[in-house]
This record gives sequence, structure tokens and C-alpha cells, in this order.
Amino acid sequence: MIAVRPPEGDRHGSRQAGRDPARVLLQISDPHFGTEQPDVLRALEALAREQAPAVVVLSGDITQRATRAQFAAARAFVERLAVPARLVIPGNHDIPLFQFGARLLSPYGRYSEAFGRDLEPVIDAPEWLVIGVNTTRRYRHSDGEVSPAQVARVAARLATATPQQLRIVVTHQPVLVTRPEDVTNRLHGRKLAIEHWSRAGADMVMGGHIHLPYVRALHEEADVTCARPMWAVQAGTAVSTRVRGGRPNSVNLVRREADTTLRTCVVERWDHSAADDRFVCAERQRLPLAGLPRLTGRGSMGKGALS
Ligand SMILES: [Fe+2]
Ligand SMILES: [Fe+2]
Repeated sequence: MIAVRPPEGDRHGSRQAGRDPARVLLQISDPHFGTEQPDVLRALEALAREQAPAVVVLSGDITQRATRAQFAAARAFVERLAVPARLVIPGNHDIPLFQFGARLLSPYGRYSEAFGRDLEPVIDAPEWLVIGVNTTRRYRHSDGEVSPAQVARVAARLATATPQQLRIVVTHQPVLVTRPEDVTNRLHGRKLAIEHWSRAGADMVMGGHIHLPYVRALHEEADVTCARPMWAVQAGTAVSTRVRGGRPNSVNLVRREADTTLRTCVVERWDHSAADDRFVCAERQRLPLAGLPRLTGRGSMGKGALS
């Protein structure tokens, strides 16, 4: 990983070679509508207009309390972004917490009214294969999990990727944390997921939930089996007052190379600057990606396949 501070003159997103909107993905996480900050929301809409991404990913905790009004505000915001392709997954805050009947009988009812019934959408575009995973559970409070069946479904989908696609899996809870106090927030089932998704060709796993942005190499982690380079890309809270660790509101931009046969991509963290009243590029990292996996057959998970 090559981490570089963006040059001063580029903090406001000046045009660079290779900045084709078709090759830009915007990750927004944990907006927690109901606790959104109007000035930050406006700044994020301005960033989206400026960068014109082809894909927007919302990696859960769309609302604070899963009310219809909060979902309606979130839906209106997403519509205003006018990004051609969007992928939204629920977070634990998107299941009603105190309305026990709704939590038990229709945990995703209000979410689905705003964002559709597909809780695990997929974007399959020439440059991108983005696979959403619903890691929330109505019987868990804030913890998330991925089941063996979900691991297998995602791996099978990854195996259909074309050589030109950047392959991204999106979960709400993180597959990797950086601080001891966040260990309890890690996704249950993550070891199985990392092992099989890396073998199937995933380039990165995007997440949120803990409101801390970072990028880490899963293949350098000692406690997981990761067959090839795969990255954990975590986003902070985009617009909520619920910031943590002294970090400002932030979002991520992922950029493909102009030559998609080059196996690298760039991940940028854009922080909200109250002084500038806009999001500014705070960190830019070029990530080396693995070559394409060798699979024994289309859709094969190879040795150790799940059922
Ligand atoms: Fe959250
Ligand atoms: Fe969460």
C-alpha cells in the first residue's frame, strides 16, 4: 500500500489524469438520518455533484431509529445525489429497536418501503462488481453476522466477475478493527468470509458501523486466512453528529485506473471541513490488487466449499 497525503492544491478535488466519473465509486456509511447535520449534508451533495461518481454505496445505519420519516429523508437525499447506480444495505439501526412487534414481525418493513425489498443487492457494471450482504439480525442488538450460506452465495457471485471488474463486498459491521475496544464489534463469521471471499477473488470488503475510517490489508492479518491481497475499507459516519475518536465526518472515494487491466486502485478519504464548509481530500492510498484467481470451474469455491 502506498499512502500519500494529497497535495495541498488538490484538497478540493481538482481534476487529475484518470478522473473519469465512470471509474469513481462513492462510499457513504452510517448517515444515521435523524441525527444528520444539514450543513454536512449539503457539503456531501456538493461533493457528489463535483465528483459525479458512477456508483454510490451506502453501507448501513441509514437511519438513527428506523422511523418512516427518517427513511423518507434518507431516500430523498439519495435521490438528490442522482448517482446512476446505487447499492444500499441495512445496518443495525435500520431495524426498529423499541417497537418490538415491528422488530419481530417485519424488521425490514420500513427499510424496504424506502429502499426496496432486496436486502442484498448487487451492482454488476463493466468496471464494478459490488455485492451487498445483509449482516444485521433481528435477534442481535448491534452485532452483525454472516452465515455460511451468505459466504457461499457471495463467493459464487465473485467467481462470475470479469477481469475488468473491481470486486467489492459490502457488509455493515467491520471484518477488521484497529483498536482493542472495537474487537467486540467485529462481524461474526468474518474468518470464514475472508477465507472464501479472498479465494473467490474479492479485492476489498467495505464496511462501517464503528464510525472510524481506515484501510487495512487483510492479507497481513495473522488471525485470518487470506489467500490473496484483499483490503478492508472502512468509512466513518458521513453526516451524523455521532462522530467517534475525534474524527470528523467522512466518506470514501474509490477510483479505478484508466487501464483496468492494471491491478491497482486508489482509495481516498474525504473529511468534512467545517472551516471550508465542504469535504476535502484528507488521505489517498494506492492499493495493489491481486491478479485474477484460478478457479477450477465457473462459480467454484474450490476446496472447502460450503453448502
Ligand atoms: Fe452507525
Ligand atoms: Fe451500526
